Amino acid sequence: MTYSIKIKNILCVLLLGTATAQYPIAQSRDEMFQFISEMPKAELHVHLEGTMSPQTIVKLANRNGYSFFNNVEDVFESLENRAPGLGGFLQHHDKQVSVIQTENDFYTLTYDFLKNCFENNIVYVEFFFDPQIHSERGIAFESVLEGILKGKKAGEKNFNIKSNLIMCANREKSIESAMEILEKAKPYKNYIVGIGLDNGPENGNPPVKFTSFYQEAKRQGYYLTIHNDVDEANSVEHIWQAIDILKVDRLDHSINAIEDLSLVEEINNREIYIAASPVQRRRDPVPQDIGRIKFMLDHGMNVSLHSDDPGEFESGYLTKLLFNFQQAGHFSKRDMARFMLNAFKATWLEQADKDAYIKSFKKWAKENGVRI
Ligand code: HPA
Ligand code: ZN
Repeated sequence: MTYSIKIKNILCVLLLGTATAQYPIAQSRDEMFQFISEMPKAELHVHLEGTMSPQTIVKLANRNGYSFFNNVEDVFESLENRAPGLGGFLQHHDKQVSVIQTENDFYTLTYDFLKNCFENNIVYVEFFFDPQIHSERGIAFESVLEGILKGKKAGEKNFNIKSNLIMCANREKSIESAMEILEKAKPYKNYIVGIGLDNGPENGNPPVKFTSFYQEAKRQGYYLTIHNDVDEANSVEHIWQAIDILKVDRLDHSINAIEDLSLVEEINNREIYIAASPVQRRRDPVPQDIGRIKFMLDHGMNVSLHSDDPGEFESGYLTKLLFNFQQAGHFSKRDMARFMLNAFKATWLEQADKDAYIKSFKKWAKENGVRI
């Protein structure tokens, strides 16, 4: 190594700071892309209804006689015209959900999603589904589940991907309606590993509204998680309620926790995992929340990264999301592997299966030059 290259490397370390300090020689984009795309992945925060590509949306809209999504440009236009924030997101989301009508549509959706997982090297996935947004449109709970389970079975067989379901209640709907879906889910208990809470608005619909739903779900043996979307009203208070009153095992989004260091400490003490989703919308210059997620990682929080609604965001499916996040935030290979190790640790698998995934992931990381 020549003297000038040595100096350049030292400068590089000083400039890039601690996150990349162990890797004084900058990784090329191609090398990093290869590392991230080959990384075995666990996806824990993804909504089945939000996985539809514009092509699938148009296919289902045509199949079911809807005229508002005649071609992919119509879908892009609707995505582009969304207002910012959760409210704007849900506007488009509800419209695209309406094209899903039959058991066979749920099969198509699930199968296409697992194919996508395969292409992203996802080896294990826990995915959300929202029965209430379908039952209110007259689609029976059983049709939703039977379609999903057929898609899951075919996907597992063809792509060798293990998956489990998380059933979400909608926070704007009543507690009685949430209790009803718990009852309806009883015959499918073996396939549903946990319950969650999503949709909105969060303002006026605090976690405590669903205390009895969470207590009953726990009693029935489900794991518990909850959305606390980013920068929503009363976010910090809602996260406290989620861990203290609902006693959740995991938190979705919940990035505003860093505004209260005693909350950060409590989440860490209780070893609660956080499934974050640094998505990027079409006009966003970079993925959201890079700085806040770096803070979480640096403060020992068990945070992992996920795609949320990959069909509806520019960030897309997991490999692309991770790569763009890494590039924009200058994260090291080790950082990216730590995010993914957190995901495997956060899974709701039997302990022996979880241990096997963790062991195999650590082996992969070591073979790829990363100690975690
Ligand atoms: N937040 C709330 N509701 C949702 C989301 C989300 O990220 N995705 C689909 N429904
Ligand atoms: Zn979500």
